[in-house]
Amino acid sequence: MLLEQARDILAEIAQAAPHTPAELEQFRIRYLGSKNVIKALSAEIRHIPNEQKRDFGRLINEAMQAAEIKYQALKAQLEQETESQQAAALDLSAPAELWVWGTRHPISITINRVIRIFERLGFVVAEDREIEDDWHNFTALNTPEDHPARDMQDTFYLRGSQNLLLRTHTSSVQVRLMEVQKPPIRIIAPGRVYRNETISARSHCQFHQVEGLYVDEGVSFADLKQTLLYFAQEMFGATQIRLRPSFFPFTEPSAEMDVYLGTETEDARRLTKGTGWLEILGCGMVDPNVLANCNIDPEKYTGFAFGMGIERQAMRLFGISDIRLLFENDVRFLRQFATVV
Ligand code: PHE
Repeated sequence: MLLEQARDILAEIAQAAPHTPAELEQFRIRYLGSKNVIKALSAEIRHIPNEQKRDFGRLINEAMQAAEIKYQALKAQLEQETESQQAAALDLSAPAELWVWGTRHPISITINRVIRIFERLGFVVAEDREIEDDWHNFTALNTPEDHPARDMQDTFYLRGSQNLLLRTHTSSVQVRLMEVQKPPIRIIAPGRVYRNETISARSHCQFHQVEGLYVDEGVSFADLKQTLLYFAQEMFGATQIRLRPSFFPFTEPSAEMDVYLGTETEDARRLTKGTGWLEILGCGMVDPNVLANCNIDPEKYTGFAFGMGIERQAMRLFGISDIRLLFENDVRFLRQFATVV
């Protein structure tokens, strides 16, 4: 009786032909699983007369082996079938998906143009942190606490801190550099800055600046003027600049620079409100207090500094009418600059 059953199982295994992964799994559970039928039957050996025990054991062994061999073979076959099905599903004639190249952001394009111009004059790029302390953003720059000039720059302080802030200008980079490097110093500091301003088409709470600093023996206002004239010519094709007296706590004397764009073109008239002149940057001779704060001897050295916003220049260069477009990173907008260098 039990011998019969063992033979039946062996025959069953020989005939079994699972076709799908699910059927194969059924097969595995029935013949190889932890509670498989072969095991169950072999447990009955104690009910078998002694003289049949050998045959019974052989049949059980054969069944186990047959199940294992069949399972492995069918599994390999199934795997191969799925692979070739997948390959057949591939359409080798379909057009390839094109690489989507990134494009330079108009802000980067503009900053790079400014950098290239000043590099020709021997300026090197300096960069530093966006989270600054009060000393590097204000105090070292001759702007002590309760100085009214702090109101010019509505500052974001870090939560719970009276000392840490988002830098309001990259003049902080100049301080950091002067603290560790002695003259001659000739750097430009491009970077992102933050001011607590209402966001509109014309202004944003984050923007970019490039500031410049030149400190050495005998640096004069004439050097500043010549440097800025060169920049205006290269950047805007302007033939004239105008320096108007102004105020910054860290420079003395201070000035605003306008470039002359003329009134011939409609663009120039619109940008300059009909005057021909466009305001570009602030500048001046580094205040001796700033040099002293950075352990540079103001008796021996003088310097000039300037700082300009980048967004307005980018908007002018590319005819962008809303500053917010520069921060939304809509690829439809950004792709338009793919071919601009
Ligand atoms: N730091 C000034 C600003 O952010 C610009 C400036 C830099 C002016 C250097 C003079 C000299 O507005």
